[in-house]
Amino acid sequence: MTDTDSARRGDAAPLWWRGGVVYQIYPRSFQDSNGDGIGDLRGILSRLDYLNDGSERSLGIDAIWLSPTFPSPMKDFGYDVSDYRGVHPDFGDLAAMDDLIAACHRRDIRLLLDFVPNHSSDQHPWFVESRSGRHNPKRDWYYWRDPAPGGGPPNNWVSAFGGGAWQWDAATGQYYLHSFLKEQPDLNWRNPEVVAAMHDTLRFWLRRGIDGFRIDVMGMVLKDPRMRDNPPNPEWGPDAGMPERFSQIWLYNRNWPEVIDAVRGIRAVLDEFPERMAVGEVFGPPETLAWYLGGEALDGLHLAFDFHLIGGYGTGHTPWNAAAFRERVDAGQAALPAGAVPAYVLGNHDQSRLVSRYGREAAPPAAMLLLTLPGTPFVYYGEEIGMADVPIDEAQARDPARHRAIGRDPERTPMQWDASAGAGFSSGPPWLPLGDPSVNVAAQTNGAGSLLSLYRRLIWLRKRSAALRGGSYASLAETPAEVFAFVREAARQRALVAINFAGKPAALRLSADLANAPIACSTVAGRQGEYPAGGQLELGPHEGCVLLT
Ligand code: NOJ
Ligand code: CA
Repeated sequence: MTDTDSARRGDAAPLWWRGGVVYQIYPRSFQDSNGDGIGDLRGILSRLDYLNDGSERSLGIDAIWLSPTFPSPMKDFGYDVSDYRGVHPDFGDLAAMDDLIAACHRRDIRLLLDFVPNHSSDQHPWFVESRSGRHNPKRDWYYWRDPAPGGGPPNNWVSAFGGGAWQWDAATGQYYLHSFLKEQPDLNWRNPEVVAAMHDTLRFWLRRGIDGFRIDVMGMVLKDPRMRDNPPNPEWGPDAGMPERFSQIWLYNRNWPEVIDAVRGIRAVLDEFPERMAVGEVFGPPETLAWYLGGEALDGLHLAFDFHLIGGYGTGHTPWNAAAFRERVDAGQAALPAGAVPAYVLGNHDQSRLVSRYGREAAPPAAMLLLTLPGTPFVYYGEEIGMADVPIDEAQARDPARHRAIGRDPERTPMQWDASAGAGFSSGPPWLPLGDPSVNVAAQTNGAGSLLSLYRRLIWLRKRSAALRGGSYASLAETPAEVFAFVREAARQRALVAINFAGKPAALRLSADLANAPIACSTVAGRQGEYPAGGQLELGPHEGCVLLT
């Protein structure tokens, strides 16, 4: 039976990625094991018990996604890969990766790597060869083009990080395409040799036991074969505070119709191995996400990130109010093909930390939302203790991408394990500065009212509850304006989730079938087990509650 079959039939024992919780680790910043100030694989291995030791003392996550761990000149911190089949020495070696895979599997944790198909590093041997001469056999592995008839770059495409997307190569008299940094040349997925090499790379890791991949920039691997100019974006103006990348509509270089062929090719490779999966970084309206999943056939990506809440590359995040969240979630749900599950994101290595976006009081209700919505939630390391963006000055800045004024370093700082000088992260000076020392795991481990304890309660509750893990979704129309409430339902269970987005109390009238259901979890510690009185649920400021029948 294929995953698709089981998805269509809605099997009772769903595959792990259909509703499990994925924890994203930024490997440089999770745990350093050798005092060089850079996190590494042995460090991650030493912290697995925190993530899931099988008991409710641990977070209880189901899978880990590692941001890129491959050899790389680190121009874009690993998203510039110079060897797809190795491990960067900063992080360890293949033996350390094998040990990590085995250690994860012993704990029933799946391990996902970050596959970067759209571009390699300019130091990858493929590109070095490709650049060496116009007639080199690898020339066509990348996009080389002559100047436009009147001179200058072949078209008007801009790079995601600002500036033009074409780099002149004086030695061979042509331009090459880079949709990101000039050190990240785009691979030509129209060349069957490239496709075969990339597929073999996937098999290399799948054979080692990797459970799947987060796929970087999936929506750009195939472009318009004629490479036409993108149209200008009428909404863009240099003073609107929008990065240059938004000066044009990415019509011919993103979500091009043929991209789905590349997706299906990758899916076919994954299907050669049991229970493997891919989650794609794709951008677009809900219908586009559905298209990436393969539509009703579900033969595309297993999961497609839904970035509508967090905001995509420079586009705004959803404002912190109940109506806006409800609208985005409802629209996403309505567009999902039957049997598909969404993948919500409230934090990642490209966007400001949640407490810096919405304020500290939003962290508990946001955690509840993420972990009770349908689908497969992705939790970014440190969000579970409420880490905030760390101020970075020019001298400390490491991220070369300046599509945002300060780059992405603030949300990539080391995990804070305790209040000691190195935060328990490293015995040496950390590669990025640490944040507020009072925000740490040790301080939140035992307190029932801590954010960490709320994450744990929610994740374990979700695991035990069929309704929360795999149930249907329907939002409630009749709520106070500041409350977003929805019902999740499975065969024998109903869950009501109600989130108060405002700083003042609110009350929600309960339907008869839920009026006698106890509170299974509240963001306010101690309310668990309480029964709502008088047919309504009273919510404190910024309180979220789950009632479970
Ligand atoms: C998306 C990744 O999330 C981001 O960190 C990276 O810079 C770009 N893709 C380019 O690979
Ligand atoms: Ca290290």
